[in-house]
Amino acid sequence: MRLVMLGPPGAGKGTQARLLEARLNSPQVASGDLLREAVRKRTALGIEAKDYMDRGVLVPDELVLKLINERLSQADAHGGFILDGFPRTVEQAETLARMLEKRGETLDKAVAIIVPDEEIIKRISGRRTCRSCGAMYHMIYDPPRNMNLCNSCNGELYQRDDDAEDTVRMRLEVYAASTRPLLEHYERLNLLALIEGIGRPEEIEGRILVALGRLPAGDGTSNAAGARSKTGAQSKN
Ligand code: AP5
Repeated sequence: MRLVMLGPPGAGKGTQARLLEARLNSPQVASGDLLREAVRKRTALGIEAKDYMDRGVLVPDELVLKLINERLSQADAHGGFILDGFPRTVEQAETLARMLEKRGETLDKAVAIIVPDEEIIKRISGRRTCRSCGAMYHMIYDPPRNMNLCNSCNGELYQRDDDAEDTVRMRLEVYAASTRPLLEHYERLNLLALIEGIGRPEEIEGRILVALGRLPAGDGTSNAAGARSKTGAQSKN
């Protein structure tokens, strides 16, 4: 399955992409993770991208597209992928469509997770990530057993540089100006699934699987209708 995950910073795109990987047998391809890896390795691309990321603004397209193109060319992404954080603008979405067209492929769905701003600030301020294995925690919603150590590998947990409050506010502004219009774009293409993002991660995963037709609709799964009524016809998040 070829999916795009949309939603504001901290909406839970990465959390859901990781949950869905095994279910859909398709790898998560996270533009933010690819960029952070390049920064960590101090590649030329990473050095150039870092300043943009630290300010909470979008990294120039040529850098992001290079990483995404390389990653989607790897064998494990040939059967499908879960894109997380890309595309982030209508221009990136159009480039993605052309990239896929060359491979004789199309997107199956764009899943937008809807979460109000006040919840986003709480989620981001509590987020901690393992330096060794990338596992993610939340200091209140999903705390590690030992303070600052990963449950799986005992690695050190850290807070992302761009999770400082001012930078988060800038990321939210950038989302509203540049990324939110993508919801309309994918709605026009009849690919959009709006998912209510409040609840336990497993509940949200269930809503997504229903929207993808991988689970029958059941209790509490009226995701799109609920999300639309909370956010207006063209969701705010
Ligand atoms: P990126 O890394 O993509 O950041 P983001 O989009 O801002 O998203 P986040 O990773 O912050 O949040 P998320 O939605 O994945 O939430 P998560 O699952 O972690 O981008 C970073 C930067 O890179 C950008 O600012 C830009 O500079 C650059 N960049 C990236 N892609 C680019 C592109 N395409 N073009 C240009 N520049 C680009 O969850 C957050 C927290 O909430 C966690 O602690 C989690 O445990 C918790 N949580 C998750 N779900 C729930 C739940 N249901 N209930 C309670 N807590 C939950």
